[in-house]
Amino acid sequence: MSDLPTVVVGRLLLPAGMEMLTGRCEVRSGGADPTREEILTLVRGAAVIVADPTIAVDEELLAAAGPGLRAVANFAVGYDNIDLEACRGRAVVVTNTPDVLTNATAELALALTLAAARFVSGAERDLRAGHWRGWDPAAYRGLELSGATFGIVGLGRIGGRYGTLLAGFGVDLVYASPRPRPQRAERLGARWVELEDLLRSSDVVSLHAPGTPGNRHMIDARALDLMKESAVLVNTSRGVLVDSEALADALREGRIGAAGLDVFEGEPELPPALAAAPKAVITPHIGSATVKARDAMARTVAENAIAVLEGRDPPNRIA
Ligand code: 8YV
Repeated sequence: MSDLPTVVVGRLLLPAGMEMLTGRCEVRSGGADPTREEILTLVRGAAVIVADPTIAVDEELLAAAGPGLRAVANFAVGYDNIDLEACRGRAVVVTNTPDVLTNATAELALALTLAAARFVSGAERDLRAGHWRGWDPAAYRGLELSGATFGIVGLGRIGGRYGTLLAGFGVDLVYASPRPRPQRAERLGARWVELEDLLRSSDVVSLHAPGTPGNRHMIDARALDLMKESAVLVNTSRGVLVDSEALADALREGRIGAAGLDVFEGEPELPPALAAAPKAVITPHIGSATVKARDAMARTVAENAIAVLEGRDPPNRIA
């Protein structure tokens, strides 16, 4: 038995982070697809747990880890998988990985915006399936971004970066958020509006809000009815924000124009209604999946873990 503290990685930590931990601690990893039971066994005696959005950090997990647990380092900026109160109650520090994935996620939001607005997935599917009968002036007519009104829900880091990336398209920007963000908004030329007004006036609605209980089904049947029939809905934040059944109905009935989703309820299983919905481009939660961002996330996780183990305040403490 070594004297080094144990860091338990619930799933996998990329080499960029592992290299930093090597020699400083014992690392145990759950692998690509551990069961909940395996994770509960694995965390026993951990000083630090490296979690991610697929791992619920709750009383059960904290109790399984035991009294030696000092920190939970989340491999994500979002931390809706973590019961912060439970962690505070046990004096367990919690950290996340902000900033390093801001650009990657905003770029994916832009990719989904373009792909959904121009029916890229559906058009390609038709082509590959042999359903394209030749050029047709009326077919696949989508939304042109230039001149469109964009509604950004949540003008935080990622929402703000998405707004910056849109600048070259010449769009009108409005945003909704719990509190106005005057500096960022001024830089972007974005106007603060109530969510209902944003939904009514936007050609593209892009969600950049956390998966808190209060945000659950922020986009429900009523919200979808407020949106334009041609509107494009983009979600790269958390699946719980959108009622997937209501969205699938709205797409099928042509009550909204298209959707670009990187997240959805009940991941990893794609809700059957969404899988069958037309005019939807759906990716498997790859917002931060660039080499640069994921390596930086792994390093950030390791930095936070090491800081706690060395008795320092970690750079990205959230609790
Ligand atoms: C995932 C994310 O963490 O940072 C977040 O909140 O949702 C993503 O970056 C990442 O895909 C690893 O699970």
